[in-house]
Amino acid sequence: PILEKKDVLNLEGKVALISGAASGIGLATAELLSAYGAAVALLDVNPSQGEAAAHNLTKAGREAVFYLCDVASRQECEDTVNAITKKFGRIDVLFNNAGITHRKTVVDLEEHEWDQVLDVSLKGAYLLSKYCIPVMAKNGGGSIINTGSGWGLKGGDKAAAYCAAKAGLVNLTRAMAIDHGPDNIRVNSINPGDTNTAMLREEGRQLGCNEDSFLADSAKGRPLERLGTPEDIANAVLFLASDLSQWVTGSALVIDGGGIA
Ligand code: NAI
Repeated sequence: PILEKKDVLNLEGKVALISGAASGIGLATAELLSAYGAAVALLDVNPSQGEAAAHNLTKAGREAVFYLCDVASRQECEDTVNAITKKFGRIDVLFNNAGITHRKTVVDLEEHEWDQVLDVSLKGAYLLSKYCIPVMAKNGGGSIINTGSGWGLKGGDKAAAYCAAKAGLVNLTRAMAIDHGPDNIRVNSINPGDTNTAMLREEGRQLGCNEDSFLADSAKGRPLERLGTPEDIANAVLFLASDLSQWVTGSALVIDGGGIA
């Protein structure tokens, strides 16, 4: 059916769970999805920024709740999804966005650093999906969006664990799309290029670079000649969360100003 124009991006009555929602891409997405009517559950390990973000949204008349949740913990993911389901009665959108990196080669990475990156950036998406999918299926379907990376598609320097985790997410996305399509659950990945967030600035620090020149260098070589903003990425999540993408599943959407994948 042709969707009514006014209904296409409307998320009223829907509940969106967003991990890594206290900062950067997750925060911008929480703001955007709630602006389009969704009730938002913000999950993060940073309680001060997370509480503040939920508070600001509530003050603006939106429905938003912060949940302290380490996505690498099975128990915390299960408890948080149960709490959200109890409060809101449903989950329509899951944005698996929490991620961390260590800018190191396999030779330099310590085993615990490898585990940490894989646990947060890949296992966290498995865990939240594991507990959200039955809730979505019960309510007739939903949309899961996983934050991959351009580097999950083509690799990158001194980020071996991160590249492995993000490549895993891209194919986990396809596997989940196949398994849960019959339940009307769509699963897609978004794959950002360098986006001006705390994480990118932290990467510059890990590499021992001057912040301004690191950010300027990261913007170079793109047809659109600038870094991404968190809002650029949130716009793609809105598309995938909404009915506008009703026949899109298993895809890997690249949002990078052109030229990295
Ligand atoms: P950010 O650092 O601004 O936000 C990440 C958030 O995740 C933070 O609020 C942090 O507290 C939270 N977090 C970290 N560990 C967590 C855990 N165990 N459980 C729950 N929350 C946790 O960074 P940004 O850039 O917004 O990152 C969001 C996603 O985008 C990440 O998955 C990242 O890998 C991905 N990405 C970022 C790019 C960039 O250039 N900034 C490029 C490609 C992908």
